[in-house]
Amino acid sequence: MDSEFCRTPLVLRGVSFSPPLFCAPMAGITHSAFRRLLADFGGMGGVFTEMLSAKMVVHENAMNSPWLKRRPTDGRVIYQLLVVDTRELTQALDRLAPVAGEGIDINLACPAITVQQQGGGSNLFDDPVRLRDIIRVIRAHHAGPLLVKIRLGRPTPDWREVLHDRLRLLEDEGVDALTLHPRFAEESLNRFPARHALHAELASETHLPIIANGDITGIDYARERMDVFASTSGLMIGRMAAARPWVFAQWHTPGLTVDRVEVWSRFCRYLEDDFSPEKALIKLKGFTPYFARNFVFGHTLFAAVQGAATWLEAKEKAGQFLAGPQPLIRDISLSGL
Ligand SMILES: Cc1cc2nc3c(=O)[nH]c(=O)nc-3n(C[C@H](O)[C@H](O)[C@H](O)COP(=O)(O)O)c2cc1C
Repeated sequence: MDSEFCRTPLVLRGVSFSPPLFCAPMAGITHSAFRRLLADFGGMGGVFTEMLSAKMVVHENAMNSPWLKRRPTDGRVIYQLLVVDTRELTQALDRLAPVAGEGIDINLACPAITVQQQGGGSNLFDDPVRLRDIIRVIRAHHAGPLLVKIRLGRPTPDWREVLHDRLRLLEDEGVDALTLHPRFAEESLNRFPARHALHAELASETHLPIIANGDITGIDYARERMDVFASTSGLMIGRMAAARPWVFAQWHTPGLTVDRVEVWSRFCRYLEDDFSPEKALIKLKGFTPYFARNFVFGHTLFAAVQGAATWLEAKEKAGQFLAGPQPLIRDISLSGL
């Protein structure tokens, strides 16, 4: 990381991510409507889609699929794949080709049981033979940047050796960069802090650029840990971007002020543009726990939206909450999210 905190672009196969600040892949959150909102504020060099099952992608048309579609204004979009084997993988890559030229990411980090049972996420990280086969197919069919997102692996006494082996594999098979979320495979976001102190040691093990992820809340967090991020090439923010989609803009303009009520209304409009009322309600319910953290009485907004049976009810109840003068929280805590 440069001393200016993310001003040196990360360039992968000729694609420049500038600044090297990324919005994390988040299932149920980083869909097309959220990416549109994020892009209104700007400030990041790339945004990851939510995890997309390669088996599902085979049946989608990139031009009109709600999962795959992107807007020219989105900036650089990296498509994250949940992939478990090589069957139909080339067909999935063909489907992605019109939209995913700026990057494909393989999810090797997801700890969710359902994902692991399918053989994806951290389960694929555990299986070097299958992983190598999959990367070879993707590398042969995708000329653009190829990234992976990993955790530290399993907390066994030999975790360093295992991680070392995986880093060799990723380098040998032509992966261009990795996101490192330095928690062990099944450590929850709340009970264990990200072990960013490991970055220097792990960066010395690989020539691949590392994007650091986990618990990063903004430039102040990075500034306080300047030394631990010195060896990394980019930073990724997840939950705080859901709470404050302007977090990347604020990175460059610390005094930026934002009208939360207007942001909420705009996001609702964007959801309506992209999704049916039923789907929009589900997505609003996914977003609200994060956004509600902006308000001292945000639990009221949270409860109103979670309890709504329809899109219109959610909008109306949220509107009632936001119509009043709502005191804001200055420093949001990620605890419990
Ligand atoms: C609601 C939610 C959904 C997530 N979905 C994904 C996902 O689809 N793919 C993935 O690699 N990580 C996923 N993650 C993990 C984030 O990408 C990120 O690694 C994690 O939230 C830690 O970063 P943060 O502290 O900045 O939030 C998800 C996290 C959250 C909170």
